[in-house]
Amino acid sequence: MAKNGTFWVADGSHLPDVEPHTKAKHRLVEEYIQNWIVTLCGNNIGKRKKVVIVDGFCGGGMYRDPDNGEMWSGSPIRIIRAVEKGLERVKREKSKPDYDLQAKYIFIDSDKNHLDSLKVHMIGNGLDSYLNDPEKCELIHGEFDRKLDGILLEAKKSKCSSFFLLDPFGYTDVSMRNMRDIIDLKKSEILYTFMIEFVIRFLKERDGKLKKAFETVLEAGGYYEVETQFDNTPAQQEYLKNQTLNLFRKRTNADFVYGFSLLHNQSIVKYYLIHLASSVVAQRVMKSAMWVQNNLDFLCQHHDNVYGMGHKSIYYYEDKNFPRLFDVKQTNTQACIEKLDEDLMPLIYSGEGIQFSDLELQTIQRNPATIKHYAEFVNQQREAKEIEVIRDGKNTTSKQVKPTDIILRAKYKQTKLFT
Ligand SMILES: C[S@@+](CC[C@H](N)C(=O)[O-])C[C@H]1O[C@@H](n2cnc3c(N)ncnc32)[C@H](O)[C@@H]1O
Repeated sequence: MAKNGTFWVADGSHLPDVEPHTKAKHRLVEEYIQNWIVTLCGNNIGKRKKVVIVDGFCGGGMYRDPDNGEMWSGSPIRIIRAVEKGLERVKREKSKPDYDLQAKYIFIDSDKNHLDSLKVHMIGNGLDSYLNDPEKCELIHGEFDRKLDGILLEAKKSKCSSFFLLDPFGYTDVSMRNMRDIIDLKKSEILYTFMIEFVIRFLKERDGKLKKAFETVLEAGGYYEVETQFDNTPAQQEYLKNQTLNLFRKRTNADFVYGFSLLHNQSIVKYYLIHLASSVVAQRVMKSAMWVQNNLDFLCQHHDNVYGMGHKSIYYYEDKNFPRLFDVKQTNTQACIEKLDEDLMPLIYSGEGIQFSDLELQTIQRNPATIKHYAEFVNQQREAKEIEVIRDGKNTTSKQVKPTDIILRAKYKQTKLFT
């Protein structure tokens, strides 16, 4: 049984209570997977695609929601439903009624009772057809890192896109090496639950028993070196976040790494959901999904710099005291566009102009903005006559900014500089 009391029994009769941050994580996974399918299948000319989705620490399939006593599905069931919804949207919204999506699900857990419980709840949710077809779905009993090589081989052979949800209880069950191997597949990505409290515990007693895991599993030698008493001040949390994301960038070779903070109260991060991807499009889709689940107020001091996007747990009884909770989207939008100023203007002003797609590519990991915010920023700056947008060699006033548009400093601004 896990230390926090989250466990399942083989007949599915025990439902652990779902915590608010777990619900936020589930919603993010769901939102992302659905949009990932729409993007992968909807934006190409083909009519067929194969994807592999691995839930490496799948759990027992069902929780109880203490807010209302109702059942709350775990990650495997949510993933299957999100793919089904995504495919429906591809057929309907993208006018591809015959689209053939072959999705293969691989659910792994080291606890046999948890897998048995998952089976019970998949059947209870009408998903028996998945259980009867190993081409569609495999439930694998064992430790994730011991099963990974076989899965990588299968994914390599089929050359398909793959998504790995890695949601362990602890910090030693997934190594940097595992993540490197996954990212090496190329069309692959990971959403990893990283418990930052492990790092904080390590920093409190650097030479203690966590040292081996810190050096060999996390390969964190040379990181988190500042010597200080860690008591979760905003500046310290910002330092830990930046070190963590840079560590993952360096060790996994992923081109795009972005974190979503899960706070278990108003101000302390419990864990990060770290998205690692080899494609900018995947990161773009993930950031949009994070935006939907974010409930941090960027105008609030610290939120943008310290946590970036994230979710703070609000317990049912606290809800009424936080009327602004779901009210932050509008103010965040403008705060986010203003923040883009710091990241984009130096790039725009530094040369002969820069392609819109390069602006995004070079800054996507630095700020919470989605592609819509980038376009909105360009439109606002053009209206303010700070920049010009050049399309096919001519100045354009089109509000639909295209990836190939060149963004440059407005002519009159350039002249002003030289007079
Ligand atoms: C946090 S729970 C997963 C919850 C699930 N992702 C969800 O959101 O519904 C972690 C699961 O990982 C399993 N586990 C622990 N160590 C493991 C390992 N080395 N390999 C695979 N599974 C493991 C546990 O038995 C537990 O079911």
